[in-house]
Amino acid sequence: MDNPITKFESWWQDALVDSPLQQKSAVCVSTIDENGFPVGRFVDLKSVSESGFVFCTYFDSAKGKHITRDSKTSITIWWDHVGYQIRVIGSAQVITAAEADYFWQTRSRSAQLTTTAFDQSEPLHSEHELATRLQEVSAKLADQPIPRPGNWGGYCIKPVSIEFLTFRESRLHLRELFECKGNAWVKQLLQP
Ligand SMILES: Cc1cc2nc3c(=O)[nH]c(=O)nc-3n(C[C@H](O)[C@H](O)[C@H](O)COP(=O)(O)O)c2cc1C
Repeated sequence: MDNPITKFESWWQDALVDSPLQQKSAVCVSTIDENGFPVGRFVDLKSVSESGFVFCTYFDSAKGKHITRDSKTSITIWWDHVGYQIRVIGSAQVITAAEADYFWQTRSRSAQLTTTAFDQSEPLHSEHELATRLQEVSAKLADQPIPRPGNWGGYCIKPVSIEFLTFRESRLHLRELFECKGNAWVKQLLQP
């Protein structure tokens, strides 16, 4: 398969079949902080297409601030049950409001309420505040649709390179690196 997006879709589908994971599409997204350090955290991968890899979050979270300063990002995935590692490097761009609305509507009401209740990455004064903030928002919005907060949306990471590693017990892992050169994907095998 010489198109890495098609290959990614195929591997993602493979990984979803009989997945032992509770969070089946969690992937590690890394950003660059204000001191130049890479910072990783897991997010839920929402979609992939020729445009890139989409995840949703708050724009004013730590990761959102990092991306505003430097759009360079990476995604790291390890699906143990199928023996696949994938590494993506690219630039993140904000998705459209219409796309963010679409993903907001796919969220459960409880996920919408928790998203509305908190200012992600800001200090929390006590664990007790978790419950009180959620109760306040739940009471305020009882029986009403929950609008998408203006500071919540998504990013699409447009890849410049994607590496697929097929793990082998023999350690003869197959590494397939795809790099975007011009408008074409160029494939190169790498030593394990
Ligand atoms: C399995 C899993 C899935 C997660 N999915 C998301 C997600 O889709 N979006 C999000 O903003 N945070 C998600 N989180 C929380 C992030 O890992 C992280 O704690 C949060 O986004 C704050 O990161 P930041 O302070 O670096 O911005 C998830 C955490 C885990 C463990």
